[in-house]
Amino acid sequence: MKPIYLDYNATTPTDPAVIESMLPFLYENFGNPANILNQYGWTAENAVKEAAKNVADLIHCQPQELVWNAGATEGNNTVVFALIRKLKQLEPNEKIHFITSQAEHWSVINSFKAAEKFEGIELDLIPVNQDGIVTVQDLKKYIKPHTKLVSLMWVNNEIGSINPVKELAEFCQQNKIYFHTDATQALGKIDVDLQKTPVHFLTFSAHKFYGPKGVGCLFTRAMIQLDPFLFGGGQQRNQRSGTLNVPSIVGTGTAAKIAKEKMHAEAKRTRELLKKLYTELKIELPDLKINGPDLENTDLRSPVNLSLQFNKQADLVLPELSKIAFSLGSACSTAGTSSSHVLKAIGLTDKQAQSTIRLSIGRWTTESDIRQAAETLIKAFKPC
Ligand SMILES: Cc1ncc(COP(=O)(O)O)c(C=O)c1O
Repeated sequence: MKPIYLDYNATTPTDPAVIESMLPFLYENFGNPANILNQYGWTAENAVKEAAKNVADLIHCQPQELVWNAGATEGNNTVVFALIRKLKQLEPNEKIHFITSQAEHWSVINSFKAAEKFEGIELDLIPVNQDGIVTVQDLKKYIKPHTKLVSLMWVNNEIGSINPVKELAEFCQQNKIYFHTDATQALGKIDVDLQKTPVHFLTFSAHKFYGPKGVGCLFTRAMIQLDPFLFGGGQQRNQRSGTLNVPSIVGTGTAAKIAKEKMHAEAKRTRELLKKLYTELKIELPDLKINGPDLENTDLRSPVNLSLQFNKQADLVLPELSKIAFSLGSACSTAGTSSSHVLKAIGLTDKQAQSTIRLSIGRWTTESDIRQAAETLIKAFKPC
């Protein structure tokens, strides 16, 4: 018996309809969309265009504002390094200050740190509040005359907190600062409307909303011109060279289309399931705490994530937890146990972080899964 999958924030199962839509592009429609002189090429090109339209419909942007890539890690790196190149070209002698937060995904934090080390930019890794959120008031304290980029994630991957992205983006726009958001955990879970939210750059991976792995997009607002990050045959309007991964792009388009149809109903259902789980646990484990915003606070918390602090270190009861698949708030390596940087950023001690479990659910989580998960967790953590 496989464990019950409660790790949807790590990756989601690929939707069967996504796989169905991809198969023809692995079999008969294997053409290269860059070669539209033949039917194979134009069939592939049309499918890529349709996929971009589906993603654009989900996030309310223009298809031409999207560049296909290998996912959020690539997108986050591209924003940082392509923007530095642009800024240095425009004003070679100007200082450059970038801001991101201590609770971002490593693909953002480490891109910014690499830019500090190799490109000489000034960097502020700013704190988050106890819910993992940065408000405009918090951000204002760190703005300098030469601040050029602020990057703050839409939804936190560990504790599910939602940043006030609209207000943050508006503030940056008013102050002529570029604003990037890593929306990897937001797409398909909550409304992402780029008509209403003036971000300059947005990044995501398809595998977090039932699409394939290794594919995603960088959204760049139409008025901004960035030099390419990858040079080559000039694909994608010369913004990212390399033959397009057509089956995965088609799968992403299908995933986006399904997300648009199902997102609100799914969010309602998963919120109910998480509430049920938490209520059942709390009866037997009264010391239990939620990391990040309260479950009732639907504007501030992802509908699929529940980060819980138990009364003992989770790695001490791992065998008892083998019936469920989840994530820990700490990682063991040969160098010892390291606590999650996100949990540290919201003020947890090492012991609290090591007693934390992240449960994340989604499209195929059932009531019975939730009941069994509650039973398993209670058995493992209930004091004898
Ligand atoms: C918020 C966030 N950003 C970026 C990434 C990186 O995504 P990928 O590994 O698909 O590039 C993840 C993946 O866990 C994530 O959760």
